[in-house]
Amino acid sequence: MATKEVKERAEKLKALIDKYRYAYHVLNKSEISDEALDSLKHELKKLEDEFPDLITPDSPTQRVSGKPLKEFKKIKHSVKMLSLEDVFSEEEFSDWADRIKKIEPSANLKFYSELKFDGLALSIVYEDGVLSYAATRGDGQIGEDVTQNIKTMESVPLGIPKKRTVEVRGEAIITNKNFEAINREQKKKGLKEYANSRNLAAGSLRQLDPKITASRKLDFFAYDIIGSGEKLHSEEHEALRAMGFKTGGSYERICETKEEIFSHYKKTVKEREKIPYRIDGIVVSVNDNRIFRRLGVVGKAPRGAVAFKFSPKESTTIVEKIIIQVGRTGTLTPVAILRPVEIGGVTVSRATLHNEDEIKRLGLKVGDSVVVGRAGDVIPDIIKVLSALRTGKEKNFHMPKNCPVCGKLVEKSVGMVNWFCVNKNCPARHREGMYHFVSRKAFNIDGLGPKILNAFLDHGLIQDISDIFELKEGDIAPLERFGEKSAENIIKSVNNVKKIPLSRFIYALGMLHIGEETAIDLANELGSLTKLEKANFEELNKMPNIGEVVAKSIIDWFKDDRNKNLITKLLKHIEIINPKKRAPGKLTGKTFVLTGELEAMSRDEAKARVRELGGDPSETVSKNTDYVVVGSSPGSKYARAQKLGVKILDEKEFLKKVK
Ligand code: IVH
Repeated sequence: MATKEVKERAEKLKALIDKYRYAYHVLNKSEISDEALDSLKHELKKLEDEFPDLITPDSPTQRVSGKPLKEFKKIKHSVKMLSLEDVFSEEEFSDWADRIKKIEPSANLKFYSELKFDGLALSIVYEDGVLSYAATRGDGQIGEDVTQNIKTMESVPLGIPKKRTVEVRGEAIITNKNFEAINREQKKKGLKEYANSRNLAAGSLRQLDPKITASRKLDFFAYDIIGSGEKLHSEEHEALRAMGFKTGGSYERICETKEEIFSHYKKTVKEREKIPYRIDGIVVSVNDNRIFRRLGVVGKAPRGAVAFKFSPKESTTIVEKIIIQVGRTGTLTPVAILRPVEIGGVTVSRATLHNEDEIKRLGLKVGDSVVVGRAGDVIPDIIKVLSALRTGKEKNFHMPKNCPVCGKLVEKSVGMVNWFCVNKNCPARHREGMYHFVSRKAFNIDGLGPKILNAFLDHGLIQDISDIFELKEGDIAPLERFGEKSAENIIKSVNNVKKIPLSRFIYALGMLHIGEETAIDLANELGSLTKLEKANFEELNKMPNIGEVVAKSIIDWFKDDRNKNLITKLLKHIEIINPKKRAPGKLTGKTFVLTGELEAMSRDEAKARVRELGGDPSETVSKNTDYVVVGSSPGSKYARAQKLGVKILDEKEFLKKVK
């Protein structure tokens, strides 16, 4: 029996899932990503699997799909259109495969692995070789008659050989290229763009006017055939191809072991970007149809097949704690400690909350269920709080009055969002400053990250970052988990960075408000470290791209004796390469901000190209930005550019400019 708490959780999950489903299927409003909704359903399913007494007939896990629309003629499916159970990890997949093997211990049980198309399921019935009628899945038993619409789809044959009577099942999709073209048209006409190709495919099929369906150029991939008598699922796919249907083709294969399936899965993940339409996983079925039938149905899904889904880019989890991190500039950053969850193929257990305002904006309490994603596909962040799942035990969070590391009071300047630890000797600031110094865009010391620096600090091998240039192999090798080889590698990496461009050196110092771009601007304008040290506020402030805040930060930094000493010590080991005067190029005077991913090059390569041509890459969009280059999945900079009316370039236009 489930405990009262688990029962309450399950009930809240049911209600929330139902609310989102209603919004989506009935009101056509998307209030949560498919992936986050899947994650909630998955949590509910797991609870129900563990405590079957939680299952009620109205649970979302018991339903196949939404209500049919009123206007369409209804068609009853000859064989129920089932759904698939989802698994999200090798472990969950293994559990499924082991269960099957236990029930069917046959030595040569084989699996068929194919693509899971992310579209809309269709059933197409041929009678005596002629397309007779076609229906959507509907609720699994009764679907909508979309025969006229199906007939506009070029990849659906109107007749099949040998006058056969069969039912073909498969997925209607819209290719990425068509989807983008349709959205471009919408934009041109000033109409709303479609959120994703699956919704568009579904919407396009459920059109009373087949002309509209035709204009959307839908595609169809077949994956199942009923009433045809093949012994193996793989043979059914061959038969489908022979009848003139498209299938997953080279992405389908027979696998004999779990390991083969895992490697096939990984290969598909890798090639996903190259596939010209959306897929959201692979489907693995028992290849022998007799065994498949014997395995039967559990709930709404066949036991003999499973959807091995790709790791989602969004998921749901619980915020267990909020801790405070003290950065190198003394900034206090709240960080959410999450119940570990897999997103985009990695396990995530913390997400930055940026600052107190962000916690307020999200309305986040400790203990809340949340939707988590990875901003720009990398940094975990909390997208939304699911307050409907609260139990009443959640706790409000308050920023601490004292630095959690050194205990000194914290301060917040008027108009700023961040709290600061003002203690310049705060050990946390010191440590973070060192992590920054060795990081990729600063000294980029291979193999020397926070973990190793912590070990060095904890063993008293270094006091400040300049000490790493004095370490010897014999100092490092005796440390726990090190050895001669790793000691040698670290020393080698340190030696490799003894010559460094001025801009990287400035960036590595970690002054407040001096990011990579500002460091490059300072280096190019001033040309040497001595000039930077000697520059006064007015000189700095009148430089292009340098404002009062940055100028003040530089002056303050050089006033501190500890910083002066650090520079003296560093210069004993390091040779700074001063920049050559930049020759003017065709982009001189133009600032570029990049957001989202480009196909042809990485963001760093794009910035380097802009610089080569005399232009200035920048991180923040302002009225003075000349161009914002927008790649795929752009961030908030895109919206800001639109708001400020800054000229927006897509990848093609950008490439033309930097050619
Ligand atoms: S087999 C027994 N194979 O996924 C159910 N389904 O969640 C038959 N789907 O409703 C499904 N690609 O719309 C199967 N290669 C594939 C698929 C596939 C996509 C969809 C289908 C189904 C849903 C199950």
